[in-house]
Amino acid sequence: MRLFVGIDLPWEIRERLGRLATGLPGARWVSTENLHMTLRFIGEVPPNQAEDIDLALQALRGRSFPLTLKGIGTHTRGGRDVALWVGVERTPGLEHLQTKIETALQRAGLPPERRRFLPHVSLARLDGFVEAKLAAYVQAHNLFRTEPMRIDHFTLFSSQLGKEASVYTAEVAFPLTP
Ligand code: 2AM
Repeated sequence: MRLFVGIDLPWEIRERLGRLATGLPGARWVSTENLHMTLRFIGEVPPNQAEDIDLALQALRGRSFPLTLKGIGTHTRGGRDVALWVGVERTPGLEHLQTKIETALQRAGLPPERRRFLPHVSLARLDGFVEAKLAAYVQAHNLFRTEPMRIDHFTLFSSQLGKEASVYTAEVAFPLTP
């Protein structure tokens, strides 16, 4: 199965993010139920390793922390904007949990993540859009900001690749202590 560890955002936040999903021709918006924040992408693993991952994450003792979403940005590839996202404030609580997850996953036999952790919530994939419209969209929404929300669990998700969009399923929730 294809797995990743993330935070399933509260419904009212997803609804707020869902309201950003307009006014940009060429954007393929992530559906409201699929909006999430990735803490660590895992990828395809065999069932026995999925079990080891589950056990390693169960053993992790993490603390709940406040999460604030703020700002809008894009990922680029080959000089082109390919994805639109909402930023996540980097805080000690978030970094701490991410580090603990990385350690737990390596203990479960995964190779270390080489890419830098850039916390974000993907809003849309971009193709065939008009560059000027993107600049205007980013400018119009750049002050987007949520109140800090308390995150009291993280989640192991499975991801099924689809033709149009992937489907993410929350498989296991791991509580964080207050
Ligand atoms: P993205 O939204 O920025 O694409 C499930 O695919 C989740 O894992 C997505 O949130 C995706 O981030 C993230 N992810 C990180 N690295 C990935 C990779 N190499 N392939 C697919 N998804 C990845």
